[in-house]
Amino acid sequence: MALTIGVDVGGTKVAAGVVDHHGRILEQVRRPTPSTNPKETAEVIAEVVNLLKDKFVDVKAVGVGAAGFVDEARAMVHFAPNLAWRDEPIKQKIEERVELPVVVENDANAMAWGEARFGAGRGEDFLVCVTLGTGIGGGIVVDGNLYRGRFGIGGEIGHFRVVPEGRRCGCGNRGCWEQYASGSALVAEARDLARVSPALAGRLLELGDGEPNGISGPEITQAAREGDPAAIECFQTIARWVGQGLADLTAILDPGVFIIGGGLSDAGDLLLAPVRAAFETMLTGRGHRAFADIRIAELGSAAGIVGAADLARI
Ligand code: BGC
Ligand code: NA
Ligand code: ZN
Repeated sequence: MALTIGVDVGGTKVAAGVVDHHGRILEQVRRPTPSTNPKETAEVIAEVVNLLKDKFVDVKAVGVGAAGFVDEARAMVHFAPNLAWRDEPIKQKIEERVELPVVVENDANAMAWGEARFGAGRGEDFLVCVTLGTGIGGGIVVDGNLYRGRFGIGGEIGHFRVVPEGRRCGCGNRGCWEQYASGSALVAEARDLARVSPALAGRLLELGDGEPNGISGPEITQAAREGDPAAIECFQTIARWVGQGLADLTAILDPGVFIIGGGLSDAGDLLLAPVRAAFETMLTGRGHRAFADIRIAELGSAAGIVGAADLARI
């Protein structure tokens, strides 16, 4: 069976891997994402693909997962709320440099597909994958197929409005879910708490070298694991927003499983327990309906690579 390469392009790193048809990664390469320059990003993607392609002659295609609005032809990133891409012809740019067919996918779609086929969603035909990182990404699988919408941009769940006239979002609107329930929202919450109540946030400040702005996501998770009440409170605040969003998505999509991925999901049960509690409290028709299981993603950072590679076969 032919091999394909999957590339996951995030805000901080470009990760690529050669993947077989069982979803196994045979070899991986990583590079930092170059600043916010789209041209250099394309060059880095091409560089990692060429490195892998030279080692594995059986590679037949490349799938690139990108954090933005990808068109129906799976060729362009039209818009990326948290990155510099605007009408970026990624397929063409990479094909010119690697001489293999390239398909572009939304990053969260790629991750959802990886988890659906080889991870936490195996055997489930109706699922929603939610990635909680810089933004919130969504991947919707309906009847075993990835749902892309009419124009390729379906599943942008990070941008449904949860607060009228709420916080500004990189998409141009206000009050989007990703401003309240993402990894970035957790960090903003902890820094805010540290500014307003430094005494309460003592442990968080210590981990952040004394500065509210020094506090990072993994440090909040660490503090919460140690039992720090301030960090736990931050998690609970974000978890309520996550749970509310999943409840609203359930009203529309009624999936069998929600898979939670992205940096925030590293917190595991610290996040999952309050998310489940909030979800069950806010679910429409609660007490009189079946509802989805909520799981943490299984493949971690590999999901984007494996999913993009698998989607390049189809
Ligand atoms: C973007 C999505 C992306 C998600 C996660 C959102 O802000 O609109 O396209 O999937 O962030 O990276
Ligand atoms: Na998506
Ligand atoms: Zn938005």
